[in-house]
Amino acid sequence: MEVPRSLPLLLILLSHAACHPVPKTERSFNKLLVISFDGFRWNYDQDVDTPNMDRLVKEGVKAKYLTPPFVTMTSPSHFTTITGRWIEDHGVIHNMMFNTETLWKYSFKDTQRKSEWWDNGVLPLWITAQRQGRKTASFHFPGGGANYSGEAVHRSLLESFSHPDDNETEWRENIDIVMNWFTKENFDFVTLYYGEPDNVGHMKGPETENRRIIIQQIDRTVGYLVEAIEKNGLKDNLNVIITSDHGMTTVKKKPNVTEILLSNFIKFKDLVKFDILDYGGFGMILPKPGKEEDIYNALKNAHPHLKVYKKDEFPEHFHFAKHSRILPILLYGDPGYSVNGRFILYVNKGDHGFDNADMDMKTIFRAFGPDFKKNHLAEPFDSIHIYPLMCKLLGVTPEPHNGCHWLGCGDRGTCHLVCLCRRVYGC
Ligand SMILES: *[C@@H]1O[C@H](CO)[C@@H](O)[C@H](O)[C@H]1NC(C)=O
Ligand SMILES: *[C@@H]1O[C@H](CO)[C@@H](O)[C@H](O)[C@H]1NC(C)=O
Ligand SMILES: *[C@@H]1O[C@H](CO)[C@@H](O)[C@H](O)[C@H]1NC(C)=O
Ligand SMILES: [Zn+2]
Repeated sequence: MEVPRSLPLLLILLSHAACHPVPKTERSFNKLLVISFDGFRWNYDQDVDTPNMDRLVKEGVKAKYLTPPFVTMTSPSHFTTITGRWIEDHGVIHNMMFNTETLWKYSFKDTQRKSEWWDNGVLPLWITAQRQGRKTASFHFPGGGANYSGEAVHRSLLESFSHPDDNETEWRENIDIVMNWFTKENFDFVTLYYGEPDNVGHMKGPETENRRIIIQQIDRTVGYLVEAIEKNGLKDNLNVIITSDHGMTTVKKKPNVTEILLSNFIKFKDLVKFDILDYGGFGMILPKPGKEEDIYNALKNAHPHLKVYKKDEFPEHFHFAKHSRILPILLYGDPGYSVNGRFILYVNKGDHGFDNADMDMKTIFRAFGPDFKKNHLAEPFDSIHIYPLMCKLLGVTPEPHNGCHWLGCGDRGTCHLVCLCRRVYGC
């Protein structure tokens, strides 16, 4: 097995001598459950006891950490996971949907009911899998409530507007419901989403006892899941991936630092037609006609921890800015420096949206089940590669995507990832 030298990205390579394709048994694929715990920073399990998650490491695969796409935000990142496409390709560029003519903004939960925000020509795995005969469902997962080319996910539950993020009883009920979908209704692929620890990370901050307590709640829920899988007889035919969309960092505030406040540098009334600011580490501005240079020049070197770009000069490695929805001026702060607009809303103690290279933005990848290796610590990788892995596991032919190929032994492709997958790789 030869790996192209030019590869920028070479994660772990298993010694290929150890790889022998395993003949397929009667069933050509196992079922798959993907769980996302929103805003689970990669190291949240390191300052609190998490016996259940620790046990899973022994029984499965853990990546040291997972790199989400830029912008490190919930809807964009989840949609990259479920499509294998960069954000500038799938077009879900923000949690908020907006209209620069009407100046309307729709919240994260509003957008879950708006197909026009999600359906930009890129198909999420639910739809692709359905078209290939798999039965799929989404439980609160971002994007799961939209129609794609007129097609809905077979079963989709949306979070209500008043849905509490942290009700442990409800968390368990949701697992029971999903187990029933697999056992009684023969679903093949289910995505399940929880709004924690993101909520606590924002409200209380990532370095707090509140966050450690919610991580323990998540750990108990993982323990409940493992028991439920056994009780329902799914242990030998259900693969599980536990992942998340981004990390969390403590928001830096005065007097420790000089916060970023754009109204210190520009007059919004004169220069700005529309903006998306006050939303963590990232913001965008649509200048009034002829005012782009004024805004750019006023902001470019205004604050030592503020990065300011015109759309066409935004760093390409982020694979973010080349979409028509992106506004002409983009801004992001150094980690912890939120991009505040007209004034500072002192709501969030923790936030995200910052550079995905920052360790505080990294998140988790865990997996276990019949097709995964046991006790395997994988090198870090990008979340964009989860999509082709899910396709492999489900025996689904992927849509075009930006991920690497999780190749079987002897195959050749753009790059090789960890040999995580026992059946696929026969390792
Ligand atoms: C999806 O399509 C169905 C059938 O046309 C429609 O009833 C439903 O409102 C659509 N849902 C969304 C979120 O667009
Ligand atoms: C938590 O969820 C359970 C089950 O859905 C419900 O009975 C209970 O009232 C909820 N508790 C709170 C505080 O919302
Ligand atoms: C300022 O920094 C100190 C030391 O890191 C920290 O304990 C404190 O909470 C910070 N204050 C604010 C307002 O961020
Ligand atoms: Zn999130």
